[in-house]
Amino acid sequence: MSAQADTTGADKPETEKNWWLKFYQDTPFIQYLDNAHQEDQEDILAFLAEHTPLPEAAVIYDQCCGVGSISLPLAGAGHTVYGTDLCPQFIDEAKRRAEILKVQERAHYLLADATIFTTPRPCDLAVNLYTSFGYGDDGVNLAMIKKARSSLKEGAPFLLDFPNFYLVISRFRKHIVRHINTAAGILTVNREAVFSPEEGRLLQEWTFIEADGKRSCQKSSLAVYLPHQIKDMLRQAGFERVELTGDFHGSPFGVDSPRCIALAR
Ligand SMILES: C[S@@+](CC[C@H](N)C(=O)[O-])C[C@H]1O[C@@H](n2cnc3c(N)ncnc32)[C@H](O)[C@@H]1O
Repeated sequence: MSAQADTTGADKPETEKNWWLKFYQDTPFIQYLDNAHQEDQEDILAFLAEHTPLPEAAVIYDQCCGVGSISLPLAGAGHTVYGTDLCPQFIDEAKRRAEILKVQERAHYLLADATIFTTPRPCDLAVNLYTSFGYGDDGVNLAMIKKARSSLKEGAPFLLDFPNFYLVISRFRKHIVRHINTAAGILTVNREAVFSPEEGRLLQEWTFIEADGKRSCQKSSLAVYLPHQIKDMLRQAGFERVELTGDFHGSPFGVDSPRCIALAR
């Protein structure tokens, strides 16, 4: 694979500890999220309806909610949602959107650390979507899963959506460029990736170039967890049954699947 050139770590970017506290605040990432969820929101909601059927007026926890792209429509369907995120701009935007949709009475967005926060009411479903997990070390990451578990009613499901690292490694792309249509014009997102085999992490340098030419650069670092390791962590957190699917169409998990979607109970 093309990552072989990186095994010395010589071209490895230095990534700040707790990089995620800064990453989302200092970039136009919100446009990136909106674009992604424009494509997959319907699939995710259909997947949840099929695999995690909910009672009427259920309570749902959107862990690391971003701007609430998935929990807002669930609030619109009459459920109560709690969303936590550490990015103040995202929480403000989620609240703003909740007001526009007139669901602010039952959509509660809180600036909180998901490795510490437990919902005030036990939930019928918890979700952690779009690679919002794996940012810290193993202890931090396990703490996040444990908090999802302790936010749930007994036997209620937790859905954890993570990249399938078999695919990421076997088709490793060192450079990824995306052009995203935004109201202000094209946003270009350029990613340079390397593996750190010693740390077991995927390190990325992101450059965002906005339509007016404004550039911002940030680094990210993600733990490389294979599906069996995700399952192990979920079991360590107290979940008894874990099923994997490979995408939000419900395809069975395989080494070529785009995602590793774990449904734990
Ligand atoms: C890639 S974004 C995805 C957001 C959202 N889940 C979605 O699907 O749109 C990852 C989010 O996780 C949040 N996050 C990361 N670590 C967190 C933590 N410990 N507590 C709360 N939020 C966290 C980030 O601030 C960011 O908004």
